[in-house]
Amino acid sequence: MRTDTPQTIYRKDYTPPTYQVETVELGFDLDPDRTIVASRLVMVSNPESVGEGIELHGVNLQLVSLRMNGRTLYEGDYDISGGILRIPAAPDRVTLEIETLTSPVKNTTLSGLYVSNGNFFTQCEAEGFRSITYFPDRPDVMAKFTVMLRADKNRYPVLLSNGNLVEEGDLDDGRHFAKWEDPFKKPSYLFALVAAKLVCQEENFRLKDGRDALLQVWVEDGNLDKTDYAMQSLKNSIRWDEERFGLELDLDRFMIVAVSDFNMGAMENKGLNIFNTKFVLANPRVATDVDYAGIEAVVGHEYFHNWTGNRVTCRDWFQLSLKEGLTVFRDQEFSADMIGTDSGRAVTRIEQVRTLRQAQFPEDAGPMAHPVRPDSFVEINNFYTVTVYEKGAEVVRMYQTLLGRDGFRKGMDLYFERHDEQAVECDDFRAAMADANGRDLAQFERWYSQAGTPVVTASSRYDANAGAFALTLSQSCPATPGQPDKLPFHIPVAVGLLGADGKDIELTVDGKKAGATAVLELTEPSQTFQFTGVKQAPIPSILRDFSAPIVLDYPYTDEQLLHLFSHDSDPVNRWEAGQRLAMERLLAMTAAAGSGGQLALDDTFIDAMRKILVDESLDPAFRENALLLPSESMVAEQMDMVNPQAIHLARQSMRKAIGSTLRKEFHAQYEANQTPGDYSPDAISAGKRGLKNLALAYLSAAPDDAINMLAQGQFDRAGNMTDRVAALVSLIQSAAPGAADALERFYAEFDNEALVVDKWFAIQAAAPGADVAAVRALMKHPAFTLKNPNRARSLIFNFCNGNPAQFHAPDGSGYAFWAEQVKALDALNPQVASRLARSMDRWRRYAPALQAQMKNALEKVAGAGKLSNDVNEVVSKALTN
Ligand code: TRP
Ligand code: ZN
Repeated sequence: MRTDTPQTIYRKDYTPPTYQVETVELGFDLDPDRTIVASRLVMVSNPESVGEGIELHGVNLQLVSLRMNGRTLYEGDYDISGGILRIPAAPDRVTLEIETLTSPVKNTTLSGLYVSNGNFFTQCEAEGFRSITYFPDRPDVMAKFTVMLRADKNRYPVLLSNGNLVEEGDLDDGRHFAKWEDPFKKPSYLFALVAAKLVCQEENFRLKDGRDALLQVWVEDGNLDKTDYAMQSLKNSIRWDEERFGLELDLDRFMIVAVSDFNMGAMENKGLNIFNTKFVLANPRVATDVDYAGIEAVVGHEYFHNWTGNRVTCRDWFQLSLKEGLTVFRDQEFSADMIGTDSGRAVTRIEQVRTLRQAQFPEDAGPMAHPVRPDSFVEINNFYTVTVYEKGAEVVRMYQTLLGRDGFRKGMDLYFERHDEQAVECDDFRAAMADANGRDLAQFERWYSQAGTPVVTASSRYDANAGAFALTLSQSCPATPGQPDKLPFHIPVAVGLLGADGKDIELTVDGKKAGATAVLELTEPSQTFQFTGVKQAPIPSILRDFSAPIVLDYPYTDEQLLHLFSHDSDPVNRWEAGQRLAMERLLAMTAAAGSGGQLALDDTFIDAMRKILVDESLDPAFRENALLLPSESMVAEQMDMVNPQAIHLARQSMRKAIGSTLRKEFHAQYEANQTPGDYSPDAISAGKRGLKNLALAYLSAAPDDAINMLAQGQFDRAGNMTDRVAALVSLIQSAAPGAADALERFYAEFDNEALVVDKWFAIQAAAPGADVAAVRALMKHPAFTLKNPNRARSLIFNFCNGNPAQFHAPDGSGYAFWAEQVKALDALNPQVASRLARSMDRWRRYAPALQAQMKNALEKVAGAGKLSNDVNEVVSKALTN
């Protein structure tokens, strides 16, 4: 939120809190216009503190009264400035009684206490609690909470908070109350309340120790036909954490509540997870396979936070990846285990690699680059990033790669043994991993402290006479803001060697037997690893399973890549070989398109694609991923001077060439991968639909009447949203005659389903023909609103980030639109505005004419008055870094 002057906060300035809070009793008299919050804090001075006096955070609060140990304090006894209430002279043990007033209905930020569809919700991470009441709102202050909620019974029949319901009943004037007690101490960011008209699906679930827990999924009336998958995912998550990590649910009751106005995916409040509806509501009619997978992952993620985040939390917000990187890793492993097969696991891994390259590598190379554990920030909300989350998860994964699954588990056990109910640092996690395994992980710390994506350059030499293969790995890391020079990382590089027959060679590395895949540990700037007993010149498969978040540079020939694409036993590297072949060609075709040359695609490449496409020994989901070309933004990342229209032209013509040459094969796969009968979101069925719909997309890239009819038929007869949306996208992409009519029918059928209306906007925002004028016209649609983040994202973000050829229109209209929307959103919701502000991060890499206009748009936003800290930090870093 807005403060007077944006201040940078540094990790090195951490000091322990002056007081700890033992217990908090909160009383809420809920009213949309005027909510009274009464708080009673028992505080004790902290022996570890160097400072003095009591410090409470508070923003946008109206203080009604303040008492210390029963005595009213007056101005002069305390001081409020810069969002902090200070009581300089206080005894070691005090009871504070504070009464404040807020107006939830006026709160459009969706942080703190707010109203959505007439219901009350809270969102406290990271610093939302301070807009509810005065409190030491920092994660290293952990307290036991008791919460009394009072509200009108008719309008708010459901009153929820963290922990256990201990009392409820009626009050005068049609009001009622509920009292909740959380048995575990927690930081304020995990507090939550819900007061609403909602209904729930509930179930008793037997835990491993024999206890029964009550599980509930709360939604608005009319949505109970969409809660099954979230409930199933919750039960699967509970089981999985018991089995894989020996971690049990520590409460008698666990609730999930869905809300349609929400800034992010979901929030792990203790015992009361609050979710964006997008990650709860699903049935085959309204949700796609991707939506189902998202629900499983996010339900898992929030549940797993109960241990990694809640029981053991962060000392300060610089340690955010301690809980987020670890919990993303856990949800990734959960999703992979739920599929169960090795090839299924590989597909989830491929998707993770794609996210990293698509979003994290650019962040690491841009003006907002920061280490997994940042050293400074202006606005913490800007650091809930792909670096902290996804690169953080890669860092956790590397422990498992280095220590093995069992070693990793030992480290986890020691971490909980040492730190249960504590607020700790990333270093404590690393120490637990090292100590539990007797390993020195000192150098590994650089993954937390150094930003930037390391580049590993590999070269090799085969000595036929000696049967020796030498692999030299050298590392470097580009400069990032504030970090001109980098020290070497500790990088696990998983390597296999393929023979001419395509089989793995049994490895002996530096004299030790290593099986088919060796995990080499690169710790120096450059190291050479000796493989012996190699009887023929091998082809190295380097960075198997993407064993580290790096860029690998090895001078592969096309021939070698084709060999790996056909044979590598490591599915991730097999996919990777295809991506390299495709990227090379996309770059060449982009260069040709930029200079008005011929866009040709070689038969060798198309033939390699054909072989994968028709290989029935491979899972459909793998084949789909192998045939999916790198996105336009991934191509852009590979270029020093980006020409978005040329990239678009190149990629479209590549899709067209593949689609028309492999027409027969795509038709055959389209038929072979139908999923008749009842819809099921399982990985096998979803994989078939994925391949079938990819076939349709390729066919539609080179359309004729028959193909348009195929798409039209699928649209008309689809029994599920996955097939429905795929057909609609194909019709629009190929500008089929029925496209406009299909769009209209789609809206008419689903205008009551907000999440489907989001899809309707999103599809149009990313359509090749959608220019700024078209997007502006859509903003006038009665269903459009900037106030709902899902809706704003579906149209505006999807245009600015998902339609580069139009967003970067040479006349600068896209940039002017962006500036306008960032400012409009900032007045409502700084967190969402600042996400949109990030769309300009890479402005320095565009062709000079575009670059100048992008800079201009950034300056316009930066120069606007009354900017939030959130947006201010992003645009000023974009302009200076
Ligand atoms: N901690 C949440 C998660 O990872 C995400 C989160 C952080 C969040 N800040 C938020 C969600 C603000 C909503 C609003 O699951
Ligand atoms: Zn999280």
